[in-house]
Amino acid sequence: MTKPAAKPRVAILISGDGSNMVALIEASRAADCPYEVVLVLSNNPDAGGLAKAAALGVPALVLDHRPHGKDRQAHERLIDAALREAGAEYVALAGYMRVLTPLLVEAWAGRMLNIHPALLPKYPGLNTHQRALDAGDAEAGCTVHLVTAGVDEGPILGQARVAVLPGDTAATLAARVKAEEHRLYPAALARLVAG
Ligand code: GRF
Repeated sequence: MTKPAAKPRVAILISGDGSNMVALIEASRAADCPYEVVLVLSNNPDAGGLAKAAALGVPALVLDHRPHGKDRQAHERLIDAALREAGAEYVALAGYMRVLTPLLVEAWAGRMLNIHPALLPKYPGLNTHQRALDAGDAEAGCTVHLVTAGVDEGPILGQARVAVLPGDTAATLAARVKAEEHRLYPAALARLVAG
């Protein structure tokens, strides 16, 4: 019997809960999914996603940024080494709350993607749902994009939309958008690695 061809190897960077990370890992378990997740890496030792990754059988590593103070590149050099050590070919940011320097962005250009909870180019940055409500938008959503030097700026790989409903708060809107994030991200990643 011939062994099935190896799938492109993906690492996921998180800082928090890791619900998108879970969605990416769970989707990867389908036989026809074109990627596998080989590493979860967090800058935050208290990230809830770390235990979830371990429970799903994916190696989870902490590289705390704090010992490096203002030297972001020293921290990123360690991340880059860990990604290469794991044999990662793609990097998915999933609630990774550090702004990247050109060191990582350039090393992984075209192979690093991010999910953002707004319909980019609208609302880069934080508090996206409240900003959509304050603007009276009729719809909100999420975007998967390639990571480039500008924060939340790279080429868009996919978007999902939800209607803003009467009575929505930032929390209720965030929850509906999150459900879409969990569908969009695995699909967009699968398309990217499949070329
Ligand atoms: C998501 O809303 C994502 O769009 C943003 O950060 C959040 C991460 O949530 N970049 P989780 O950790 O995946 O639950």
